Amino acid sequence: MTDKIRNAMWGGRFASGPDAIMEAINASIGFDKRLYAQDIAGSRAHAAMLASAGIITDKDAEAIREGLLTVLSEIEGGEFPFSTALEDIHMNIEARLKEIVGEAAGRLHTARSRNDQVAVDFRMWVRDQADAAQAALGALVRALLAQADSGADWVMPGFTHLQVAQPVTWGHHMMAYVEMFARDIGRFADARARMNECPLGAAALAGTSFPIDRDMTARALGFDRPCANSLDAVADRDFALEFLGAAAICAMHLSRLAEELVIWSSAQFRLVTLSDRFSTGSSIMPQKKNPDAAELIRAKIGRILGATVGLFTVMKGLPLAYSKDMQEDKEQVFDAADNLMLALAAMEGMVRDMTANRDALRAAAASGFSTATDLADWLVRELNLPFREAHHVTGTLVAMAERKGCDLADLSVDEMKSAHAGITDKVFSVLGVENSVASRTSYGGTAPQNVRAQIARWKERLKERLV
Ligand code: ARG
Repeated sequence: MTDKIRNAMWGGRFASGPDAIMEAINASIGFDKRLYAQDIAGSRAHAAMLASAGIITDKDAEAIREGLLTVLSEIEGGEFPFSTALEDIHMNIEARLKEIVGEAAGRLHTARSRNDQVAVDFRMWVRDQADAAQAALGALVRALLAQADSGADWVMPGFTHLQVAQPVTWGHHMMAYVEMFARDIGRFADARARMNECPLGAAALAGTSFPIDRDMTARALGFDRPCANSLDAVADRDFALEFLGAAAICAMHLSRLAEELVIWSSAQFRLVTLSDRFSTGSSIMPQKKNPDAAELIRAKIGRILGATVGLFTVMKGLPLAYSKDMQEDKEQVFDAADNLMLALAAMEGMVRDMTANRDALRAAAASGFSTATDLADWLVRELNLPFREAHHVTGTLVAMAERKGCDLADLSVDEMKSAHAGITDKVFSVLGVENSVASRTSYGGTAPQNVRAQIARWKERLKERLV
């Protein structure tokens, strides 16, 4: 393969071109072309700065600027000739720029390296994704708030171990996810704030002897400030890891909600009905309506966490500064971000469209002796029993109801008295599920008035863009 043309960008010291396999393993253009807009923005900012610092002429900077705009429209118009021999997006764009504007293109790379170039491009791409994730999460939170609002006092079973535990409200359950997804928004916002330092100008690893103005490029590209250490600027990918970490936690939350929707929409539960728009049929069983979107969302954590572990493993043990290993940082982040956005959009649609089945929720809430704790609490409050004894008395009554095949509320006062003589018919007031949820007014508890207060608080926070 020695007849291959030497690389036009770095081939000066080489006698021959690369082996085809070398070219194949080396090239990243197949995937890093997604960074074209960031790459062009970075180059425009760099060229403008070089001119303002007197490092290149205004005339060259103008030619570069116009040439880059032509490249941008060629790429967006689908007519850009991407070449594997030119390795990556940075060299593809620069080579094309040279064809368009000639010699001036060769001055663009003054005081810059692909190492700081890729670092700034990728950081800007991840920054955009962190913004997009926050927006998508905001939409999902709004959909959950709407569900909570319409069923703030609808009673449903609260589960532990997936066994009916105590009655809660539909609104309260929806609001639990609002808390989780709002924290996810916070995680993306925190990661974004930390990543918003500009690596451009770190050059290969040591900075440059040219009198560049790093504040100017940082500002032009929307960064808060330039990275303070040139080695760190080109060597770390912690910003991408933080994004993936936030994405993995968010995908885990999505997976749990998706699992609940799968269970709740099943014929055995029937607690919610998913819309036709977010369900699929079976090709053999005509009666089926499957929650495929929920199942796929449930699974997305697999690849998103996989990407996180993948990038950690790439970065682990890498000596400073840049190593080509770091080219392996992008595909997994792209895949994770794409799938997170898709999962968030699908979940938002599903939540917006689904119907909670109020009667089925109420019936399920009343099953499984869900107010047994309320009975025990009543014994503590009214008869001054120690909680452990109240627990025991209640257990006796649950066993009795189970034997008779009825609910606690169906036992007679006399039957109750057989477990503890002090019980009166006042006890029935706490055995209903509505009374049970209404009584749970402790801060963060499930009482409808609490739920309504939380809905109002979150609506306000969203309005003030505090999440
Ligand atoms: N395509 C490379 C990457 O994604 C760009 C940086 C190349 N730098 C180098 N010194 N070979 O990491």
